[in-house]
Amino acid sequence: MSKKLGQTDSRVLLVTGGAGFIGSNFITYILQKHPEDTIINLDVLTYAGNLENLKGVEGDPRYTFIKGDIRDRDMVRGLFKTYPITHVVNFAAESHVDRSIVDPDIFLTTNIIGTEVLLDEAKRAWKIYPEDKYSKEYKEGVRFHQVSTDEVYGALGKEGLFVESMPLLPNSPYSASKASADLIVRSYQKTFGLPVTVSRCSNNYGAYQFPEKLIPLMINNCINDRSLPVYGDGMQIRDWLHVIDHCSAIDAILEKGETGDIYNIGGNNEKANIEIVKLIIKTLGKSEELITYVKDRPGHDRRYAIDNTKITSQLGWKPTYTFEQGMKETIQWYLDNQKWIERVVSGDYQGYYERMYC
Ligand code: NAD
Ligand code: DAU
Repeated sequence: MSKKLGQTDSRVLLVTGGAGFIGSNFITYILQKHPEDTIINLDVLTYAGNLENLKGVEGDPRYTFIKGDIRDRDMVRGLFKTYPITHVVNFAAESHVDRSIVDPDIFLTTNIIGTEVLLDEAKRAWKIYPEDKYSKEYKEGVRFHQVSTDEVYGALGKEGLFVESMPLLPNSPYSASKASADLIVRSYQKTFGLPVTVSRCSNNYGAYQFPEKLIPLMINNCINDRSLPVYGDGMQIRDWLHVIDHCSAIDAILEKGETGDIYNIGGNNEKANIEIVKLIIKTLGKSEELITYVKDRPGHDRRYAIDNTKITSQLGWKPTYTFEQGMKETIQWYLDNQKWIERVVSGDYQGYYERMYC
């Protein structure tokens, strides 16, 4: 049987944004699941990047951390020269919608320009005839995977699901920057033949999520008897997926995904925000009086919901966590890791890099 693109015996993965929530879960997941893999984690350590998330893999000889910016072309080129990188998995991004409303600029440079730099340097390193602009021949087994989001499709009404063929109609500067990156990725496949895949995932939850996002923010506030700020009427719907299920989906795409294809990833798990807030309150034994309805997010998307037929039927992936189990474990994780959350909220974790690496 011939080897499919993306399937190599020994992979060297350049994981960008690996100190963030999903990236750090992904690195741990891959090193456990694929003993033969090597991972280079490239992360600039913004406020959202936390090396404490990766303590479990720190001494692993298959793991290397590089502090650097995906927008730094010379540095990225150097990485491709130094390491025999076979795969790029691009998680690095500014990821919080609320921040993009206050300060959009960095979303455009990181999420769009950063992605273009990675694509271009991967193309340069992987092309067999780099000087020939017409050549579409690449080293065997290489793959660029772009981690995108369901927000690129815009918002749904009461009915319907996002499918991969839908037009992109992003509504926030964050989602517009992610949609732009998706289009740049597409262009590198169409024009240069670069072996790429894209995944568009719904809202993740789980361990190590920065407490600016709905679930960890509400858990942390609730534990500390602080008010729970619900935007608007709290009836906006998201399709929640456990972060480990997101990791296994990307793993499946890297192994079995078709070059040039886009895969939606979702958990068939639509919940209104207020339902989630009430579940957290109930699990922690607190009072619903903590709920405070606040002014709505500008341009707030009403509903996201994923049709994941393609990835389940073509790649055989399916989510393993029920929401009930996933939330129970997640709430327990935050209860057990109060020190982690204290350091994240105070910004103390940012000294970790200096303590560990300088
Ligand atoms: P996160 O904010 O927790 O982590 C982002 C990481 O990227 C951080 O470690 C940060 O330091 C790093 N980073 C930022 N700018 C960088 C730069 N210029 N160079 C190098 N590193 C940089 O984000 P997350 O929630 O883990 O999301 C990861 C990816 O998944 C993002 O691309 C996001 O758009 C996508 N996504 C997230 C979700 C979700 O629910 N969180 C859902 C679907 C898709
Ligand atoms: O759908 C995937 C996206 O999910 C990812 O691409 C983004 O990176 C990720 O941040 C997430 O975006 P959301 O905007 O959906 O997530 P957030 O946790 O910020 O908000 C979830 C919902 O909860 C949303 O309807 C806004 C609401 N909310 C959020 C916060 C932080 C509140 O009501 N109160 C809050 O304090």
